[in-house]
Amino acid sequence: MSIAVTGATGQLGRLVVEDLLRRGVAPHDIIATGRDTDRLADLAERGVQARRADFADSAGLTEAFTGARKVLLVSTTTVGERFDNHTRAIDAAKRTGAQLIAYTSTLNAHSANMILADAHSKTERYLRDSGVPWVVLRNGWYLDNYTSQVPLYLQTGAVPGSAGTGRVSAASRRDYAEAAATVLTSEGHAGSVYELGGDTAFTLAELADALSTASGQGVVYHDLPVEQYRSALLGAGLPAEMAEVLSDSDLGLGRGELFTGSSDLRRLIGRPTTTLADALTEALRS
Ligand SMILES: NC(=O)c1ccc[n+]([C@@H]2O[C@H](COP(=O)([O-])OP(=O)(O)OC[C@H]3O[C@@H](n4cnc5c(N)ncnc54)[C@H](OP(=O)(O)O)[C@@H]3O)[C@@H](O)[C@H]2O)c1
Repeated sequence: MSIAVTGATGQLGRLVVEDLLRRGVAPHDIIATGRDTDRLADLAERGVQARRADFADSAGLTEAFTGARKVLLVSTTTVGERFDNHTRAIDAAKRTGAQLIAYTSTLNAHSANMILADAHSKTERYLRDSGVPWVVLRNGWYLDNYTSQVPLYLQTGAVPGSAGTGRVSAASRRDYAEAAATVLTSEGHAGSVYELGGDTAFTLAELADALSTASGQGVVYHDLPVEQYRSALLGAGLPAEMAEVLSDSDLGLGRGELFTGSSDLRRLIGRPTTTLADALTEALRS
């Protein structure tokens, strides 16, 4: 029986598949799924089962999950379609006899008021009621959300946002992927809700300071009214839904909804989480 990973054409799912291989899971015991299987061709060449799965297509999901003992359900990207997508995937995994569904949710999904949290908390409830053993990986914010913006921060000398003095427990995508791989390759996780975040939370002003130190260039945090931040995101070319969700998430950050004092991530990966300073240094090198 195999492990199926959805979103393997995306960044997190791909990192999970790579981590499973690194841990010695036989390639033919891994089912990597995505909408565009051409993007899974290199994994197929290494012996991984590459299967097409579109979350809009229940029959396709059922075919894709056939033979999987565990399914990692990586949340899909279009926020408005998420809940329906996820219910179709959970139903498919149930039909094919999965013995564990691991779902990537968001930090504090039970209490957060961010737009983002709504579909996640509904999915968590649906999963709990599904009758299939489940584990919830409540991933915090990605450090990569910030490191990917480093060239822009340096060009403008500013980190823009609407988070005030809120602290974010961000961790690298790689760390979250390792945590998922741990859950998929060990037992005893059914019924657990893991609150996953970096060991050391920071404010966006501290992010700007850390970037100044790492780069030797002055960068400051610009705390903006949320409408202004949303307009800036739109101006940078983000689609309207994404600009709305990201600016709203910064308000959530300000309310403490992306903070956790939990050490679940550190425990699951068996080492300290990647620091902000190390992530910025790596971003500046690349
Ligand atoms: N915690 C955070 O800070 C944070 C930040 C950003 C995103 N996220 C969320 O976390 C999830 C994983 O992150 P990521 O970085 O891996 O995102 P990503 O690189 O955009 O990958 C998303 C994956 O989901 C797949 N997908 C989306 N809609 C689908 C559908 N209807 N049917 C089948 N597959 C679908 C994509 O497949 P295709 O290649 O076919 O599109 C892709 O493989 C995403 O939902 C993302 O929105 C979290």
